[in-house]
Amino acid sequence: MAELTEEPRFRPVQPGTQPPHLYPDYKSTVKRAPTKPLVVIPQTLSELTGPVFGREAVGPSDHDLTAHHAGEPLGERIIVTGRVMDEDGRAVPETLIEIWQANAAGRYAHKIDQHDAPLDPNFAGCGRAMTDEQGVYRFVTIKPGAYPWKNHPNAWRPAHIHLSLFGQAFLTRLVTQMYFPGDPLLPFDPIFNSIPDERARYHLVSKFDWDTTTPMTALGFRFDIVLRGRDQTPWEK
Ligand SMILES: [Fe+2]
Repeated sequence: MAELTEEPRFRPVQPGTQPPHLYPDYKSTVKRAPTKPLVVIPQTLSELTGPVFGREAVGPSDHDLTAHHAGEPLGERIIVTGRVMDEDGRAVPETLIEIWQANAAGRYAHKIDQHDAPLDPNFAGCGRAMTDEQGVYRFVTIKPGAYPWKNHPNAWRPAHIHLSLFGQAFLTRLVTQMYFPGDPLLPFDPIFNSIPDERARYHLVSKFDWDTTTPMTALGFRFDIVLRGRDQTPWEK
């Protein structure tokens, strides 16, 4: 397949809007950050196309994390919705979003997480959804709890939901975390604070939304996601 000869389709990332590979306050980056400069790979058709996931890969209740077990999970039921956009603000339709999160007590249903908080037999904490023609996605879940981690003494992660998106190609891949507005732990979180630019950092904080809030059922939070470009949603490094 011939290499593309026109200008690269995706603009470079703006300085300060993404976390560095090495951020010593976030201890895991010390071991995993590359020690040599990255090799810049020219964009060719193989980076600009695929992989794409079809709607058939997603089941009808995959977006509703409260509906995967016999009973309702404990916690505050929430709806998380938003629009996935490209660098020019255009909708990214038919793209897969996967999420994973702790339960309301701040515990992951994973064997590595053994900290002193209860598991919820009615909550596994993972789901997936496709965006519609307008790039809109919607999840029903419960608000995750904060949890302790061993990054530094008395370290606590703010409540967050992990997200993974491929977008339309490898070059729009995004793995990140969504936070909640007003969380008192945000100023102390080295993962959140590893993003140098404050405006970019707050792209990761969802907005409470009355229009999404459903009477007697769930609070609504809005989280728009931008793949690539000046307003790109920051990565988790
Ligand atoms: Fe987490």
